[in-house]
Amino acid sequence: MKHTPIFSSHFQNSVRVAVLFFIALTATCSYAQTTPSLLPLIQNPDSRHCQTLDGRWSYILDPMNNGVSKNGYFKEPTVDNKTTFKEYDFSTSPMLNVPGDWNTQKAELMNYEGSMWLKKAFLFHPQPDKRYFIYFGAVNYHAVVYVNGIKVGEHIGGFTPFNVDVTSQLKEGDNSLIVWVNDTREADGVPTLKYDWFNYGGITRKVRLITEPATFIQTYKVQLQKGSLRQIAGYVKIDGASASQSVTLTIPELKIKQTVTTNNEGYATINTELPAKNVTLWSPDTPKLYTVTLSTLTDTVTDKIGFRSIETRGHDILLNGKPIFLKGISIHDEAAYRNGRIFSASESRTLLTWAKELGCNYVRLAHYPHNEAMVRTAEKMGILVWEEVPNYWDIQWNNPTTYANSLNQLSEMISRDQNRANVIIWSMANETPQTEARNAFLTKLVNYTRAQDDTRLISMAMLRGDKSHNILSVNDSMMSKVDVVSFNEYVGWYEGDNSRIDQVSWQIDVNKPLIISELGAGAVAGLHGDASERWTEEYQAEFYRKTLKMIDERMPKIAGMTPWILKDFRSPLRELPRIQDGFNRKGLISDQGQKKEAFYVLQAWYKNK
Ligand code: GCU
Repeated sequence: MKHTPIFSSHFQNSVRVAVLFFIALTATCSYAQTTPSLLPLIQNPDSRHCQTLDGRWSYILDPMNNGVSKNGYFKEPTVDNKTTFKEYDFSTSPMLNVPGDWNTQKAELMNYEGSMWLKKAFLFHPQPDKRYFIYFGAVNYHAVVYVNGIKVGEHIGGFTPFNVDVTSQLKEGDNSLIVWVNDTREADGVPTLKYDWFNYGGITRKVRLITEPATFIQTYKVQLQKGSLRQIAGYVKIDGASASQSVTLTIPELKIKQTVTTNNEGYATINTELPAKNVTLWSPDTPKLYTVTLSTLTDTVTDKIGFRSIETRGHDILLNGKPIFLKGISIHDEAAYRNGRIFSASESRTLLTWAKELGCNYVRLAHYPHNEAMVRTAEKMGILVWEEVPNYWDIQWNNPTTYANSLNQLSEMISRDQNRANVIIWSMANETPQTEARNAFLTKLVNYTRAQDDTRLISMAMLRGDKSHNILSVNDSMMSKVDVVSFNEYVGWYEGDNSRIDQVSWQIDVNKPLIISELGAGAVAGLHGDASERWTEEYQAEFYRKTLKMIDERMPKIAGMTPWILKDFRSPLRELPRIQDGFNRKGLISDQGQKKEAFYVLQAWYKNK
């Protein structure tokens, strides 16, 4: 009997997705699996022999993790005809763009949170003496990767790259790459269940099939030694059977050529010196990048690297030995206009150009590692960067799984960006309530970061305890552990209204640089009224005028600031009808690119800084 649909297919689809959404919220996913070990991160994938796997991928929604069971969706039927039993079929499934969050690609996926299987079929002709890796710029949040039906890797963490070794699984001709993605927020996650940004799920950044020789240059660091303006200190790491190799570093423009020999683990330190003259150190005014090449008998990797030093002296941050004021702004990894996860240099450039127009020499890439294009584009544009891992609000400080996850994301962030001259601060956390467990957790991360990379500064965005009286301060036991004391302050928005700003002054007794990592107020672009009316552009502009006056007159000297935030951004915590409508409205620019009055107040202040 022909089934006559009672409701329109659109209505049916909406009901179906609503039901799926409910199921997804209740379905728990236990995905304890043995995981092939992830290879340490391949440095600078775009300089390698790459085949892009970006493009149209088929997808299957799986809110009940049906495909996770033993005959999972990664096992496609070998014989496929009219008698074959099957209840899923990638070849007739809908498609999505990768990279890209699924939420903003289809209306019915906007609020989907759960599991999805994505497939890319590709032709390949593997060579016997080569090794093959698939590199993911990021997958939010939990990914399991299969090649030709065989599990090749698993990764947790939505904002850092990872690569899986697929040498043994690739075959001649047709190949199948299938990725299970689950973006369900987890109590033991990093970040955890609640945060003030939109949970964009999916393969949100680039996917590359990398071809390497049997032994190749896996990673390297070529940067100035801490405290030096001439000594280059770094290392190179080879991966493969013949790990002990000669590696030659060349920087032609500086007439540097040095050969080192890696040990049996494939490791060698690099120590050489910049010439005494005719060197342009990297800075916002001179964002000079040099072509740096590392080569062995079988592999060559080229990068564009800048050389600069970043240090502190008392309340000052010194760039190349000179005090610098960090004229910054905070940014989320969300594209202007379309408001989805950014994955391209051009969309990164849109936001960074606005930051430049504001008068910035610095940005806080909140609250998680942004895409690599954002960091590299900022480096080319002469914009300094604060990068951070999403230890945001109340994560499970006592949970060893949470710590391992956080540490892994931190290590992947450092590994990916350790050669970027513009990255000057690694941030450990944002607004984390002080407890012994939190202090122990973050202290371990601080120690790890210093051991991995002592050439950059360490900070974290701290909360303030006092809120009642009029002399405000910052009292966080982590102040003794970081290089730069950063704090978020919302006097005039969460703490009273604009009139309160005039009543307060600050006293912060610490002999370290101070950064205001957040300050801000909300406004709807185009909403005008009296400056006493919240959400008007006039209120937000008055907030900035009063706050900047307070900074000038009633706050100890600060080394920089990153007001919250450049652009309005999606957040499920912001549901005030006709005002927020699912967006955090503290942007100086609306999500559609309209500059608010406060943009020009801050711009004028930066101009005189
Ligand atoms: C917090 C938090 C931000 C948030 C902001 C706000 O300080 O760090 O992630 O968006 O304040 O409330 O708008």
